[in-house]
Formats: sequence, structure tokens, C-alpha cells
Amino acid sequence: MVVQAALGFGEHTTEARQIQTRGTTEISRTIGAFHNDRIVGTTSAHTFQITVPGGAVPLAYVDWVSVLPTHRRRGIPTRMTELQLADFHDRAEAIAGLTATESSI
Ligand SMILES: CC(C)(COP(=O)(O)OP(=O)(O)OC[C@H]1O[C@@H](n2cnc3c(N)ncnc32)[C@H](O)[C@@H]1OP(=O)(O)O)[C@@H](O)C(=O)NCCC(=O)NCCS
Repeated sequence: MVVQAALGFGEHTTEARQIQTRGTTEISRTIGAFHNDRIVGTTSAHTFQITVPGGAVPLAYVDWVSVLPTHRRRGIPTRMTELQLADFHDRAEAIAGLTATESSI
């Protein structure tokens, strides 16, 4: 998953980077889109809190949204996001956040 996500971002990855990413990835919050036996899309989320007036509330921080260039423009992120939002709802997380790599996203 880590290698496919890096490919989706057009990044070169190293073993050290893969180890670091695995160490910070919550597997139970990670979704892969498969074509045959190959991962072609990824998304994940981290468990965070955000401070709001009155206290802190859970925040789902979305990360690693990627689709391989060969499989873009087919709605794969839309489907993965639907699953992800249902999961956030089940976890009683009312807020999700994302740092977008492109302003248009
Ligand atoms: C961003 C990315 C995941 C989109 O994948 P995709 O398969 O093209 O997405 P979809 O076909 O499901 O498109 C979903 C919607 O997002 C929009 N979209 C896709 N790429 C976009 C972009 N670069 N900028 C703005 N909108 C974009 C589409 O127009 C579509 O909206 P529509 O249904 O109203 O037309 C893919 O281009 C990618 O992996 N990019 C490199 C990694 C990256 O930047 N990830 C995002 C991290 S914030």
C-alpha cells in the first residue's frame, strides 16, 4: 500500500520512508482500491482531536488519497471517500480534515 500510494503521488520511495510511513499508518483506517490483485487507489485517516470553543472533539485527518495515473477519472476516490465517511460516522467523528496537495482539490 505504501509503495502504491507513493506511486500515486509520483514520488520515489525508499525503504526508510516506507518503514516510517507504515509506522504512522492506522491499518484499520486504510482503504485500498483493487484492480485484479493490484492496489490502484489508496486512502487512509489518522485519529486526531481538534480544539473548538468549549473543548476538544475527534477529528479524522484524511491522508494518502491517491490513484495510479492509469486508473484516474473513474470515480475511485469518490467510492473510497463514501466508505471513509461511513467509517467516520461509525466512529462518531463529526469532523474530517485534509491538507490538499493542490488548491483546486
Ligand atoms: C487527486 C486524485 C486522487 C484524483 O483521482 P481521480 O481518479 O482523478 O478522481 P475522480 O475521478 O474520483 O474525481 C473525483 C472528483 O474530483 C475532481 N478532481 C480530480 N482531480 C482533481 C484535481 N487535481 N483538482 C481538482 N479536482 C479534481 C474530479 O473533477 C471529480 O469531480 P467531478 O465528479 O465533479 O468531476 C488523483 O489525481 C491523484 O492520485 N493525484 C495525485 C495524489 C494527490 O494529489 N492526492 C490528493 C491528496 S490531497
